[in-house]
Amino acid sequence: MNTDTLYNERISLLKTRLKLLEDKPEETYDSTLRALWFAACGKPQSAESAMMQDLPELNEECVTILDELIHRRINNIPLAHITNRTRFMGIEMKADKRALIPRKETEILSKRALEISFKFPDANVIDVCCGAGNVGAAIAFYNPGARVYVADLSSEAIELAQENIDLLDLNERVKVMHSDLFEKFMNDDFFQKVDLVTCNPPYISSFKVSKMNSEIAENEPDLAFDGGMLGIKIIQRLIRETPQLLSPGGWLVFEVGVGQGTMVMNLLIKSGLYSNVDSVSDNQGNIRVVLAMKK
Ligand SMILES: C[S@@+](CC[C@H](N)C(=O)[O-])C[C@H]1O[C@@H](n2cnc3c(N)ncnc32)[C@H](O)[C@@H]1O
Repeated sequence: MNTDTLYNERISLLKTRLKLLEDKPEETYDSTLRALWFAACGKPQSAESAMMQDLPELNEECVTILDELIHRRINNIPLAHITNRTRFMGIEMKADKRALIPRKETEILSKRALEISFKFPDANVIDVCCGAGNVGAAIAFYNPGARVYVADLSSEAIELAQENIDLLDLNERVKVMHSDLFEKFMNDDFFQKVDLVTCNPPYISSFKVSKMNSEIAENEPDLAFDGGMLGIKIIQRLIRETPQLLSPGGWLVFEVGVGQGTMVMNLLIKSGLYSNVDSVSDNQGNIRVVLAMKK
């Protein structure tokens, strides 16, 4: 079958059978089909990367595989779990069931954190709740002076984070740790020595986690979303525990859920532990990142 006909038929199928998710705006019908097309011929890549390259011709065997992959996607398996690829801050990384699929919105956090990291000659950075390792990996990738520790409570997530650090050849400057928030950092090696703490914490209230879209709920770990009864369990710990680690003039930068920004900024101010409390909003004007400097 000619490539155009094949493409148009599969796009029509996706349009009638697949519901796109708002929190993965890079996944359109075209980018989904293109990513599956590349995966079917053994060249897996993210949806964004697949949009930048010419599609290869598919032989009969690859068309059969493509149709199987489309079937899986239509049956709610996330695209990144089928291709095992995602793209974060322009970097191709591995993604799978072991951790949250990095979201585009988290690039707001990474970009701001990266800018702050350049204020320090050899920034000493901790990224907690690291999941696939994307935030810490992006800082180390773009700031060659940064030394980064990435840590998570989930053993599965840190396995994946380590694979991403290996893939990006960042082992010399990024260390992966298993830690309940700062548990493994509460010692003299880190007290007052960290220039930047980053975090994309779980911030959805437990009640809302139970009502999440089934594609997300069935395929991504609850631990990545569940922020306790009010959604701010980890954020409260972050605000309380980070100052012990920060060097004078060090920064805490973290993502918050839509609608949480003002309340979280007030918590930072009320704690009396920080100055320069600030925020970064998305294109719709929602505060999505909150930052503060140690007093
Ligand atoms: C929203 S996900 C963020 C993952 C990744 N940083 C990203 O941006 O895609 C939150 C992460 O926090 C981790 N987590 C939850 N509770 C934690 C805790 N007490 N200590 C460390 N990590 C925790 C989860 O395992 C999950 O990987």
